[in-house]
Amino acid sequence: MVTFFTTFKQFFVFLPERFDLKAGFQRKNSMNEIIEAVNRAAENAEAKAAVAADAGALEALRIEYLGRNGLFPELSKKMGTVPPEERKATGTAFNTGRTRIQAALDAAAARLGGAGKQDKDAIDLTLPGRRTAPGHRHPITQLADECVSVFRRMGFVAVDGPEIEDIYHNFDALNTPDDHPSRDPKDTFYFPDGRILRSQTSPVQIRVMETHEPPVRIVAPGRVFRRDTPDATHGMNFHQIEGLSIDKGVSMADLKSVLQTFAWEMFGKDVKIRLRPHFFPFTEPSVEYDFSCVVCGGKGCNVCKNSGYIEIAGAGMVDPNVLKNVGYDPEIWSGYAFGLGLERLAMLRYRIPDLRFLYDNDVRFLEQF
Ligand code: PHE
Repeated sequence: MVTFFTTFKQFFVFLPERFDLKAGFQRKNSMNEIIEAVNRAAENAEAKAAVAADAGALEALRIEYLGRNGLFPELSKKMGTVPPEERKATGTAFNTGRTRIQAALDAAAARLGGAGKQDKDAIDLTLPGRRTAPGHRHPITQLADECVSVFRRMGFVAVDGPEIEDIYHNFDALNTPDDHPSRDPKDTFYFPDGRILRSQTSPVQIRVMETHEPPVRIVAPGRVFRRDTPDATHGMNFHQIEGLSIDKGVSMADLKSVLQTFAWEMFGKDVKIRLRPHFFPFTEPSVEYDFSCVVCGGKGCNVCKNSGYIEIAGAGMVDPNVLKNVGYDPEIWSGYAFGLGLERLAMLRYRIPDLRFLYDNDVRFLEQF
């Protein structure tokens, strides 16, 4: 009974407008005929839209009536054949009919949870695309990569070492006396099992020499840890890049030329370097090396504390005791080592007044690099 009624209703409502129209238009195109056809089409479309079951059915309706090969474009072609004085009225009826159909489709879409209309609006190809913020490498990582590439061009190979070290590699093998202050738990982080967080990248020197026959020529960038109170120029963990070159007949002049080339590559041809006598347990002689101030050019400013120079790192000729510890014969082999702090380099390079900016993870700061 229900089936019969539904079928009957549809049959009744859906008059075959296409058939009527074509027959009519082929005879003659009168104003009244077109207006009547338009109105009937609008009525039919409204009735169908009111019972449409889903978004697919609505879309089929839209195509049937308003689509490119649909009824309305067909009707509009016929409008050209209407006598000029009748065109205005036909055009108005035509537009009203089309508006009614669109409104019926919109209403049906809203009834179906807005699905039809929202689907259509959700993909607006005329809108500009949405930018995603993919992020990038941290400035310290960028700088480490840049340093490695400078040293690589001078024949160094980049290597890695563990951040959790043993006392042997971090201190003993590096000729560090038992009573050296850097071993103190006030300065170095100890694990309960006696291992430590490495306080420098120098243990990588030992690990490389233990496993490789000379000559060696490596750089090792990495994170190091010290029990310092954080301030503008100190952190509890920071980064160093270690360098080591062992060969026959290596001298202090080689060290100096490598460091000078590095300075030029990083800060330009005007930068001078200066070596000052210093002490490290694993190098003899030892030096600290400075760059002429990259801010004032050496004239003196608050960055270099009016000295004209900025301390960059430690370096020296590898102590024969260290060579012996790894089984290298100091009578045959000699070499130099250096270690520089990447945060300090970054501060100079990018004019960062406080290294804590690097680790606050504020994107407004980080996205500048
Ligand atoms: N490891 C030293 C430090 O952390 C730097 C250094 C490396 C000095 C290599 C000499 C040779 O201060």
